[in-house]
Amino acid sequence: MYAQEVKSTGKGLKTLEEMDPEERAFQEKIDANIKIEPKEWMPEGYRKTLIRQISQHAHSEIVGQLPEGNWITRAPTLDRKAILLAKVQDEAGHGLYLYCAAETLGISRDQMTEQLLSGKAKYSSIFNYPTLTWADIGAIGWLVDGAAIMNQVPIQRCSFGPYSRAMIRVCKEESFHQRQGYDIMMVLAKGTPEQKEMAQDALNRWWWPSLMMFGPPDAESVHSVQSMAWKIKMNTNDELRQKFVDQTVPQAEYLGLKVPDDDLKWNEEKDGYDFGEIDWGEFYEILKGNGPCNKERLGARQKAWSDGEWFREGLMAYSKKRKARKVAAE
Ligand code: 3HC
Repeated sequence: MYAQEVKSTGKGLKTLEEMDPEERAFQEKIDANIKIEPKEWMPEGYRKTLIRQISQHAHSEIVGQLPEGNWITRAPTLDRKAILLAKVQDEAGHGLYLYCAAETLGISRDQMTEQLLSGKAKYSSIFNYPTLTWADIGAIGWLVDGAAIMNQVPIQRCSFGPYSRAMIRVCKEESFHQRQGYDIMMVLAKGTPEQKEMAQDALNRWWWPSLMMFGPPDAESVHSVQSMAWKIKMNTNDELRQKFVDQTVPQAEYLGLKVPDDDLKWNEEKDGYDFGEIDWGEFYEILKGNGPCNKERLGARQKAWSDGEWFREGLMAYSKKRKARKVAAE
């Protein structure tokens, strides 16, 4: 039983014996891979963890549109513009599925929006970096969406029904996102020396922040142990990070690009790459709001919210009028 194993690591989770009957019945469903649906009983901590993770996942999708949206008007060809437009629109859809999944747990869209705009809620650290050249759009698709796929595929099997079902649709679209990014990198890497240099520069700037997307090292992860006992999280942060490195390094080699890590070395014994130290100081600075683009990203979302006030008021006025007409007609 996962909960019991974890107990043995002294992480303080309750064992089944220590749970009250309702909690035990719940954990036994989790352990039997039975999906939990919104209207079923769940521990308050399970609900809170899901609201936290799903709403921040949704915020990441919405804020994630900004770095790429910055290049839609500057895409080098009509095809690239159409592909990037489709990708950025997909991300909006991912955000909406995830906000809807979170709403089934009793939090409203307005509450989640307020948490984002006030800075209370997080979104993925990766979106606080600037997109300086067209190659960044390739690196984002290849690395950022590649990391997102690595992290989201296991969530398709998570215990909460609406979240796992949302991920099935999201992961299908993420694969297209990753492919189109890698295709941009292939064209540039096989292009002129200047284009190849642009691709290498983008890899240099996006490699380490992409590894940070998987979260802090397991030893510093606040939520992992409980989230894994509840099968909200199916793997640890370090496990998925390692899988991502092992999968991505050969892709960089195929492009003839160098991963910016002098400590990167294949480790036969572990059947994976050893890699250098991640700058967790940079990661935590970004979480505190001190990244290169934190203020710009949050400012863009705050401006979008205030610019849309007239539209929300119009919708509300119209729906109130319709309701009043309906009542009058009854
Ligand atoms: N950026 C911002 N905050 C992060 C983070 C990151 N990369 N990694 C961890 N954190 C935060 C956590 O949210 C938590 O803070 P909180 O308690 O205030 O929420 C704290 O750091 C401790 O981290 P933990 O490892 O304990 O937290 P989790 O167990 O929640 O693990 C996670 C972090 C792996 C990101 C997990 O939340 C997760 O899998 N989330 C779902 C997937 C997701 O959100 N992906 C983000 C990218 S979406 C995307 O890329 C869109 C694509 O279309 C491009």
